[in-house]
Amino acid sequence: MFATGDTELAATPPMGWNSWNAFSCDVTEGDIRTAADQLVETGLRDAGYEYLVVDDCWMADGVDDEGRLQPHPDDFPSGIESLAEYVHGKGLKFGIYSSAGTRTCQGLPASLGRERLHARQFADWGVDYLKYDNCGDHGSNDAIARYSAMGNALAEVDRDIVYSICEWGRNEPWRWGRNAGGHLWRATHDIVAKWTTDEQEFGLGIVDIIDQMHERGMDPHQGPGGWNDPDMLQIGNGPDSGQSKLEDVDVDRALTPAEERTHFSFWCLFGAPLMAGNDLAAMDDWTRELLTNEDAIAIDQDPLGIQGTRDGVLEETEVWSKRLAGEECAVILFNRGESTTDIETTVETVDMPVDAATYTVRDVWNDEVRETDGQLHATVDPHDVAMFRVIPE
Ligand code: GAL
Repeated sequence: MFATGDTELAATPPMGWNSWNAFSCDVTEGDIRTAADQLVETGLRDAGYEYLVVDDCWMADGVDDEGRLQPHPDDFPSGIESLAEYVHGKGLKFGIYSSAGTRTCQGLPASLGRERLHARQFADWGVDYLKYDNCGDHGSNDAIARYSAMGNALAEVDRDIVYSICEWGRNEPWRWGRNAGGHLWRATHDIVAKWTTDEQEFGLGIVDIIDQMHERGMDPHQGPGGWNDPDMLQIGNGPDSGQSKLEDVDVDRALTPAEERTHFSFWCLFGAPLMAGNDLAAMDDWTRELLTNEDAIAIDQDPLGIQGTRDGVLEETEVWSKRLAGEECAVILFNRGESTTDIETTVETVDMPVDAATYTVRDVWNDEVRETDGQLHATVDPHDVAMFRVIPE
């Protein structure tokens, strides 16, 4: 189990938006201002998406005389402090990116050996969230040393900064992320906007991540203040999104609506950080409705902070569940196959803590409510899910 630490920050999984999946290295301060406006206008902020994070490529290719990071002169001409102010003015929090190596993944200056200087700089700028990547030269330092150095530096500044460790799950960060000062830690490699990827291909698809989140045995390590992070959302993205167009990424079609619903449902069942990654200015109604579904978000943000797990497999169908506060339980019936299938289970199979004569079943995705004496079932399309909140009466 996890050590006790600061659980007030990130008491529930952080929610927000990050620039990488939509804009990759082409991001500008204009994109960030637009994203701030859009988070408010589309209702995402009010649904809980609070942290607006600029990922790699905000910085100039050189540090100042003291070693401080500088904003890119053409793409971020007004500077980071004024950008953070703009974001705060919209009732949002502002996040930034660096790496626990000499360079970022895009080859720009990063923070190894300058952790205290950069932590102070971020605090002075009004930064509320740091995503800290794993690229560049590491010298002779191991991951725990590199990530703890920044965690300690952030703890010294006079500002609450959520610390997002992005070490790609290489060294089982769920075991040491909290002690390194982290509030969330990437548990898996980079997500791409695909259902699945081949082994030799860059990144992981949705179903690959779902499997790894279960199989790597990380779930006991998560809870309030420290979250296993299956990476940012790819809902609303496709072959034309910034990350999809990178040289080593190969996205030939967008996820289907069923696949997107599966993606969001599982991230909520995991109690995962929900960082949207789509171009908000071009968001359609389907994407907005998916991202703002109140019942799904309530399952994600449940105060117990339990990561849902797999309870059973039958051929291509699976039953997953997550214990919720108030002796309730969330259930996913998942069809990973290629034909529509009936899936059945019972309350005894899932993580339902009490035995009752009757249960209310609320369907997250079609608002139906029904009563059951214990049977749970749905007809589920290929790559799709049914998701319920089950409440004992
Ligand atoms: C990767 C990271 C991505 C993104 C990218 C930026 O290492 O996992 O989420 O931040 O670097 O270059």
